[in-house]
Amino acid sequence: PSHHHSRVPNFLQCLSLHFPNSTNSIAKLIYTPHNSNYTSVLKASLRNQRFALPHTPKPKVIVTPLEVSQIQAAVYCSKESGLPIRVRSGGHDYEGLSYVSYESQFVMVDLINFRSVDVNVEKGTAWVQSGATLGELYYGISQKTNTYGFTAGVCPTVGIGGHFSGGGYGMMSRKYGLSVDNIIDARLVDVNGKILDRKAMGEDLFWAIRGGGGASFGVILEWQIKLLPVPETVTVFTVNRTLEQNGAKLIHRWQYIADKLDENILLRLFITTANSSSGFGKLTTQGSFVALYLGRAEKLVELMKESFPELGLERQDCFEMSWIESILYFAGFDGYPREILLNRTYDLMYFKGKSDYVLTPISEEGLEIVYKMLNEIDGTQALFSPFGGELAEISDSATPYAHRSGVIYNIHWGTGWKQEGREEYVKHMKWIRRLYKAMEPYVSKNPRQAYLNYRDLDLGVNNKGNTSYEQASTWALHYYKDNFKRLVEVKRKVDPRNFFRNEQSIPPAAV
Ligand code: FDA
Repeated sequence: PSHHHSRVPNFLQCLSLHFPNSTNSIAKLIYTPHNSNYTSVLKASLRNQRFALPHTPKPKVIVTPLEVSQIQAAVYCSKESGLPIRVRSGGHDYEGLSYVSYESQFVMVDLINFRSVDVNVEKGTAWVQSGATLGELYYGISQKTNTYGFTAGVCPTVGIGGHFSGGGYGMMSRKYGLSVDNIIDARLVDVNGKILDRKAMGEDLFWAIRGGGGASFGVILEWQIKLLPVPETVTVFTVNRTLEQNGAKLIHRWQYIADKLDENILLRLFITTANSSSGFGKLTTQGSFVALYLGRAEKLVELMKESFPELGLERQDCFEMSWIESILYFAGFDGYPREILLNRTYDLMYFKGKSDYVLTPISEEGLEIVYKMLNEIDGTQALFSPFGGELAEISDSATPYAHRSGVIYNIHWGTGWKQEGREEYVKHMKWIRRLYKAMEPYVSKNPRQAYLNYRDLDLGVNNKGNTSYEQASTWALHYYKDNFKRLVEVKRKVDPRNFFRNEQSIPPAAV
């Protein structure tokens, strides 16, 4: 690597030699802090305001490639100049790792221009580029067919690149599993600048990028997915119950049925607090039971009467619609034209999330702690996502995503705020860390399992230099359990010098 202060000029000079196009068009694909567009390009997909502060480390160079050869050039020049690289797809990383680095200088490769969605209905497959959003994928499928969908997250602005390489849970996961369970091929640029598809990369690396995090292994360009059959009519509902309206009993009971329901039903549970309309200034805690059923309303009401009669679901609570309309419904765009799925903008806010997996139902006392703590500050939420169904059929080692056997549900703990300043920041961060500690007795243990896509640097980070297997295990076992070993072995094989690294990347260590 070249001398520290000449890294950026060396990188830029290298790019100008290796970008196949004329200097003119290169200028439009490369941004340094001197460019007037730098900030808007950086912020275009930066989901968490916590990492948009003046003191947040920012890339010295942003590259927005239009062609694969330019990504290859960026990897090559990054290596040549000793300037580490970050890859960004949708920018929804919980800890901002796609655009923040604590190394003193770094380059960001932003896949904002790599977002085509190519749907082949005859074959029942699609190729989707990493820089596309979930919304763009869902929209793309819906433009070609109304009998296929795909299993992935609910928020349409999430990027394919991070989501697919970390798991991908959504409203069809009890029927079809995670996104990673339905990927059949991928193309990536490896550390040597080579383009590899599934056949060329081999089954070990193809395994690793489906849940092990893409950032440790290369720049993933695109993914081939299996399209998944959906009925022409699906049914949705949202039933809200406050704690006063028997909500606590329902929430407790939900834990006993959520993973056992017919796999065509996914019944998710949001626990939130809000200022109630009745009592002035009083916070009300409520459970929102939100469901997708891959079938008609009458049948759903019947099934719910059998499995969860306490909820009291009625036919008029249910809405029949097409699968793509259900995507809009869960995204909070009920009744909007589907083109809104192409919109990449969102409400800016600060947030911090953490995750847990529950293997035995939480006692009523344990849930009381949740209600009490959710009430302490504004903007908090607990989201319970049920497992079972197809998720229980897939082995823990089939992909790096190791949270399948015995899991009843996943929890997302979250808090969000809009007010600037240190005081608010500290309040929310302290709150969620306290909650996480308080819930320890009630959730999975040894290791306490966590979802990579809800990344949490509190679990631990790598060294700035070499990181041993033992040290990385402090954070990695939460995400990968026994799969961590195999991930380290793959890493040692494909990137022994640890070019693709971040605070929580797989180290090429001796096991
Ligand atoms: P981003 O671009 O920030 O990348 C995330 C990580 O992947 C970084 O380390 C990055 O370097 C790496 N990476 C990205 N593209 C890459 C590429 N092409 N090659 C190699 N490495 C790459 N999850 C879920 O399962 N279900 C859900 O419903 C939701 N909903 C949701 C809502 C909201 C508002 C947020 C903020 C997040 C979620 N998530 C989620 C979590 C989401 O799946 C997770 O944050 C993804 O990693 C985001 O992917 P992006 O491409 O947007 O992230």
